[in-house]
Amino acid sequence: MAKTRQGGGGAPGSGVTVRPMRGDSAEIAAVVALIRGAFADYIDRLDPPPSAVRETAESITELLGRELGLVAEIGGSAVGCLFLQRRESGDIYVGRVAVAGAHRRGGVGRALMAAAEAEARRLGGRRLTLGVRLALDGNRRFFQSLGFAEGALHAHPGYDRPTWVEMTKAIG
Ligand SMILES: CC(C)(COP(=O)(O)OP(=O)(O)OC[C@H]1O[C@@H](n2cnc3c(N)ncnc32)[C@H](O)[C@@H]1OP(=O)(O)O)[C@@H](O)C(=O)NCCC(=O)NCCS
Repeated sequence: MAKTRQGGGGAPGSGVTVRPMRGDSAEIAAVVALIRGAFADYIDRLDPPPSAVRETAESITELLGRELGLVAEIGGSAVGCLFLQRRESGDIYVGRVAVAGAHRRGGVGRALMAAAEAEARRLGGRRLTLGVRLALDGNRRFFQSLGFAEGALHAHPGYDRPTWVEMTKAIG
């Protein structure tokens, strides 16, 4: 995949490049720090707490063996990431979307999702799909602003009430 440059001239997302992860140890360490840092704020807000805060170099290396990872950079530093998984249904599942706290609301998430959509099309996917915690209104608005629609409600194992909502975007 070619590098994607989003925006320009000081617009949101300017200076952001998105590329596939290489998987070297420095990059893996940066991605682990990004994910753990991005989800740490939710530990006291979400029930159950997010499993993302338990990611390690080993778990991310393993994930990268099964899924495509994309990393967003500004000035050569990793500021965001996500993972894409092709499912048998033809859906492309997007997970571990994370933007460093200091870089939020600057278009990094939008740039990452645009690159994910381009990559999903290249993989022949028909829909992007992901799960969002019901309690995270801002995230629901983020994905809605990108054209995702809310679908079925789901509960984490052991919970008798819905805890997350499926969101999808047709790309066919
Ligand atoms: C969710 C997340 C990835 C968004 O990344 P971001 O770089 O801040 O998003 P962008 O700047 O590209 O936002 C694009 C648009 O989405 C919407 N949006 C983004 N975050 C939002 C929020 N918290 N509340 C309301 N709308 C939001 C806005 O319309 C925004 O455009 P604007 O800033 O011009 O108003 C980021 O907040 C994050 O990493 N959070 C912690 C980890 C996480 O929750 N991951 C997702 C799990 S489902």
